[in-house]
Amino acid sequence: MDAYFRDIYGSRWPKLKEALKEDVRHVALANPFSKMSQEEIQRRLGEANSSSSSENVGTLRYHAISHCRLIDGLAKGATDGKYPVPLSDSADLKAWYWMDLGSLLPALALRIREDESVLDVCAAPGGKSLVLAQGLFKAEEVQAAAQQGGGDQAKRGFLVCNEVSASRRKRLACVVSEYFPSHVKSRIRLTDSDGTKLRGSYDKILVDAPCSSERHVLMQKSGRENGFKSPKSSSTAVIERWSPKQCKIFAKLQYSILKSALTCLKPGGQLVYSTCSIATVENDFVIEKILQKFGPGNGRCHVKAVKDCGFGNAKDRATLEQLGCERTKHGYFMLPDKSKFGPIYWCLLERSQGSGGDSEHSE
Ligand SMILES: C[S@@+](CC[C@H](N)C(=O)[O-])C[C@H]1O[C@@H](n2cnc3c(N)ncnc32)[C@H](O)[C@@H]1O
Repeated sequence: MDAYFRDIYGSRWPKLKEALKEDVRHVALANPFSKMSQEEIQRRLGEANSSSSSENVGTLRYHAISHCRLIDGLAKGATDGKYPVPLSDSADLKAWYWMDLGSLLPALALRIREDESVLDVCAAPGGKSLVLAQGLFKAEEVQAAAQQGGGDQAKRGFLVCNEVSASRRKRLACVVSEYFPSHVKSRIRLTDSDGTKLRGSYDKILVDAPCSSERHVLMQKSGRENGFKSPKSSSTAVIERWSPKQCKIFAKLQYSILKSALTCLKPGGQLVYSTCSIATVENDFVIEKILQKFGPGNGRCHVKAVKDCGFGNAKDRATLEQLGCERTKHGYFMLPDKSKFGPIYWCLLERSQGSGGDSEHSE
């Protein structure tokens, strides 16, 4: 592993490797559908942290980037290194969800609007689906519709959360049932397709692909998991067998999933590809291959990489910079030696208006 990544990162690798072995730092993503206010969540988290001498919780500074309400959880601030279990409100909806701040960015990059059809191809355990749903189903409208005793038919956006693994789909189903009221749940569908054989037609697609998750390999090696069950750590069999060859195997799978997802994108639609791998072969190289095959002038499905990766305005870019994100050839990286979060890579692809769809609308 050292030789492989020294080739990519040069003298940066030792520092990056150490940062990857540090405890993963999570933020609490407040559930806008819960009745518990942000102040209340902050108070509860503060109480959970009060016996700790480390940093305390506070409102997140990165607010500019998102409509999501975030509260800085600080792994080190939590007592005995564990994150306080999310509490439920009076309607039995969980009030917050722990996630790496980097995981928000690919979902936010899609700029979901209320009337869009959205597919989350690799959805479990569901963190990014929660962020997509926050864009799709505005909490205030959901409440208003509930008070009127029916759904708002004017906005027909919907979310399809796909997950191929049965055990992970169970966890996803739990998240959907624990975090969304019934009005929202009726517009979310769980599916079990193999990501390489997708069907349907969507405005926005997220491909948060399976990858070699080097951070988890390194943390497992050093025996650190800081009380947080990682989305990837259930696939330890794969993780323990990290090798350059394994990266290539993942790259092949990622390319197949991405290619299949692109055929489900409506003309003018957008797709975010993301991984938590630090291997270029699983990130920019996958995009490079897609652009070679489906970029302008090739194939039926004309696709381009969007330069700003979903964060086009000056304020957003400044926030990404403040967070320690860095540009790659086709996307963005957030790496934990420069940022406090990550790793996460994402790239935004757009299908051109003129290119015909391959299949009918899925709903
Ligand atoms: C990086 S994780 C997704 C994390 C999720 N997006 C989140 O934010 O909670 C990748 C997921 O892809 C799933 N996966 C693996 N192979 C797949 C395939 N061929 N098609 C679709 N999903 C697949 C894995 O089971 C895993 O749940």
